[in-house]
Amino acid sequence: MSDTNADKEARLAQGSEHNLPSVDTESALPSYARTLSWLSLLIILLTSLGLSFFISNSARETLLTRQQEFAQQLVENLNSQIFRRFAVPTLMAYGHIALRQAEQYERLDQVVTSVIQGLPLQRLRIYDFSRRAAYSTNKEDLGRSGLAPEYLDTILYEGSSKSEILTSIPEWQAPFRIPLAPGSFQLRILYPLRGEPLSPGGRAPIMGALELTQDITDDYERVLTFQGIIVVMCLMSSVIMFGLLLMLIHRAERVLADRMNKTRQLENQIHSNERLVSMGRVVASIAHEIRNPLGIIRSSAELLQRRTDKADAGTRRILEAIYDESVRLSQTVNDFLDYARPRQPRQDLVDVNLVLDQALAFLEGDWMRRKIAIERQCESNLFIHGDKDLLYRAFYNILVNGQQAMDGPGIVRIKGMVDSEGHIRLDFLDSGPGFDTATLPNLLDPFFTTKDGGTGLGLPIVQSIIVSHGGSIELANGPEGGALVRVRLPAVASSEV
Ligand SMILES: Nc1ncnc2c1ncn2[C@@H]1O[C@H](COP(=O)(O)OP(=O)(O)OP(=O)(O)O)[C@@H](O)[C@H]1O
Ligand SMILES: [Mg+2]
Repeated sequence: MSDTNADKEARLAQGSEHNLPSVDTESALPSYARTLSWLSLLIILLTSLGLSFFISNSARETLLTRQQEFAQQLVENLNSQIFRRFAVPTLMAYGHIALRQAEQYERLDQVVTSVIQGLPLQRLRIYDFSRRAAYSTNKEDLGRSGLAPEYLDTILYEGSSKSEILTSIPEWQAPFRIPLAPGSFQLRILYPLRGEPLSPGGRAPIMGALELTQDITDDYERVLTFQGIIVVMCLMSSVIMFGLLLMLIHRAERVLADRMNKTRQLENQIHSNERLVSMGRVVASIAHEIRNPLGIIRSSAELLQRRTDKADAGTRRILEAIYDESVRLSQTVNDFLDYARPRQPRQDLVDVNLVLDQALAFLEGDWMRRKIAIERQCESNLFIHGDKDLLYRAFYNILVNGQQAMDGPGIVRIKGMVDSEGHIRLDFLDSGPGFDTATLPNLLDPFFTTKDGGTGLGLPIVQSIIVSHGGSIELANGPEGGALVRVRLPAVASSEV
């Protein structure tokens, strides 16, 4: 509200000179930002999924390696125990090894059981060179051929060892079939059963093949669950990030849309203001041209009035009307020109209290008749640099507006003080109906009036005068009703007074 229209015009005109960013250039930004955000989201999603697979796969690998290492050690231990505690004593006692003999089988079983007792083993078999199960923790397997895997010969004749995972369900189905049935995943390891080397540094002879089967379903299931948790968490965090990004994009789009709308409005405003400014110039020059002929009409009417015979009442009334209307018209023209071409204020040291005294003194007589009381509470140190005639005009307009609004007896309260920011604050509060809130935003527009004989230039002139003094004006309604006009003016430091 503190800006004059001239200021606004100047600012807007400046905006148009500098060519405000056009709407088209700005609208390219959101789609670009959108694509970028979607792309980054895709990258985040793929990276986090890849990472989760990598982490869970390495956990799976670690588990399998551990199990294999454990089985390997067990097999080696078993091998040496069987040789020392079964093969050697048996050979010494019987001269040969024949597991079909119950006594020998019993002895081997004791050795094996003592080693594997308490260990999570599912099955242990020993194959002989005829590929039959010579020993098994499962009695039904004994003597059966066809239980050994194809590659048994490479273990028996080449002495290599081999481990593999046996699955009863396809591996890719496993995550979806948790909890898994016992025995779904088994680790089988085949290892040559060796004796002692016949000569120092020579190769130990192979006596058979040891097959060890472990149920690793539980451990495998744990890894799968862990894998699932990681994947789900990655997906969830990606979805949350995606949501946040979408929110940000939407907000950014809204802000951009708002900005574009404002730009559009501003552009429209600039155009209409430019039209108004040029129209204003034309009207101001016409008003200027009207002023002189109006003066001649007024003085001629006055002259004719004096020369007209007192008895000719009809002619006198017509001349009176011509005179009154020309006075009113020239007042309007003057007001308009004051508004359209405001004069630069002088920079004298002005005592605001004195200017108020003057304005009130002028109105005093009339207000006494109308029963309008004045309540004045002004600090004494209200000094500004400015033009006392212009300030008088501003205060006068405000006071007369109050008088017209009260339309009869009432009270006008004037408060003046210097605030903490070094501004003089003047409050004019009347006891009238107050400003109409519906039209409040228009009251500072030139020619806005609700009065029959009003020009609607009073408040715009007040604003223009106050702003030209570096101040501001605010219109509001008082807490207990009545119109409140608040004027702020830069105070002169008391040291300068
Ligand atoms: N003290 C007030 N109380 C209520 N309404 C007011 C008051 N002062 C101004 N207004 C409203 O603001 C409008 C504009 O005031 P402004 O002084 O600019 O013009 P005006 O008073 O109508 O005409 P003019 O000043 O030329 O006589 C008024 O018509 C009136 O509706
Ligand atoms: Mg007025």
